[in-house]
Amino acid sequence: MENHGNAKERDHGAGVKALVEKLGREQDLSDEEFLALLRLPDAEALFAAAREARDRVYGRRVFIRGLIEFTNFCKNDCLYCGIRRSNQRAQRYRLTKEEILECCKEGYDLGFRTFVLQGGEDPYFTDDRMADIVAAIRALFPDCAITLSIGERSRESYERLFAAGANRYLLRHETADPAHYARLHPPEISLENRLRCLRDLKDIGFQTGAGFMVGSPGQTDECLLRDFRFLQQLRPQMVGIGPFLPHRDTPFRDEAPGSEEKTLRCLAIVRLLLPRVLLPATTALGTLDGDGREKGMNAGCNVIMPNLSPRSVRKKYLLYDNKRADGDEAAEGLAALRARMNAAGYEIVVDRGDFPAEEEGGIPHEP
Ligand code: 5AD
Repeated sequence: MENHGNAKERDHGAGVKALVEKLGREQDLSDEEFLALLRLPDAEALFAAAREARDRVYGRRVFIRGLIEFTNFCKNDCLYCGIRRSNQRAQRYRLTKEEILECCKEGYDLGFRTFVLQGGEDPYFTDDRMADIVAAIRALFPDCAITLSIGERSRESYERLFAAGANRYLLRHETADPAHYARLHPPEISLENRLRCLRDLKDIGFQTGAGFMVGSPGQTDECLLRDFRFLQQLRPQMVGIGPFLPHRDTPFRDEAPGSEEKTLRCLAIVRLLLPRVLLPATTALGTLDGDGREKGMNAGCNVIMPNLSPRSVRKKYLLYDNKRADGDEAAEGLAALRARMNAAGYEIVVDRGDFPAEEEGGIPHEP
């Protein structure tokens, strides 16, 4: 009986190892094999392969991004999101240009060389206003990367922001499955336009980030499979993945949070699919679990995005309940974060942390 059990375990282990090796080698699997990885009883071999893939490109260096949440006004009404326009209870705020620049200055002194300006889709921030803010940051911090995360805009708008000095753009696709997309969003927002935006951004020359939540209502493993296929096609430079977490003032208030384990598996799979990808251990992962960020690193992540917003507004940028913005999650907690990362075998570096060019990538056998 016991022998039989051991043999089965051993066969299973060998099967997993073969799958993980195939994914690392070919950066591809069949649909069935992807689904098998999501459903494994034990994913340690997957995590180990993701760590090795990350180490080959980046070593144990961890890049930090200073996240400035500069407006929580939003014209959209995404069902999962706490700053959706129908949430009357959200206390809305906007930072001024001067406040944003002040955040950058503080961040620079702390060692940040990337600023991420994230906001709801706030019509106040026209192309003129955004281009003005981006140009001011570009002039004051010429050695820093500027990342925007301000949603869907026209191609012309993206072109202007790029010309003003922005380098990167985060726009999660949220789900590549059209029916699932329709369950998460009101009818006026379409997957089609989201994908148009992502293609425009990449085409213009932004280092572009896509991504999705894990465990959002209605998500199946087949949805995640479509996300992997979509990422293989788009080949973004960054991928943001975090668990869905409910917000009490949204239609999804009673839905269950996403699974940490599945989030970690998705991170590891994406590391193996796109070895050079910049992969953050997200705030949502850190909110779900005090050790979420270390676990993310353990699954192949190489980026952390501490909160650089002014303390007075941090609690208002509430995408989901209990969103962490203090302690290690906050920019001023960087020393503590550094110590924790060191203890886990990683080193936070003062660096822009750009997507590596292929020849610098150090990937011996990329197809
Ligand atoms: N839980 C987890 N992530 C969320 N986001 C928005 N609302 C939630 C939520 N309730 C994520 C979305 C968005 C990113 C900025 O935050 O994926 O793209």
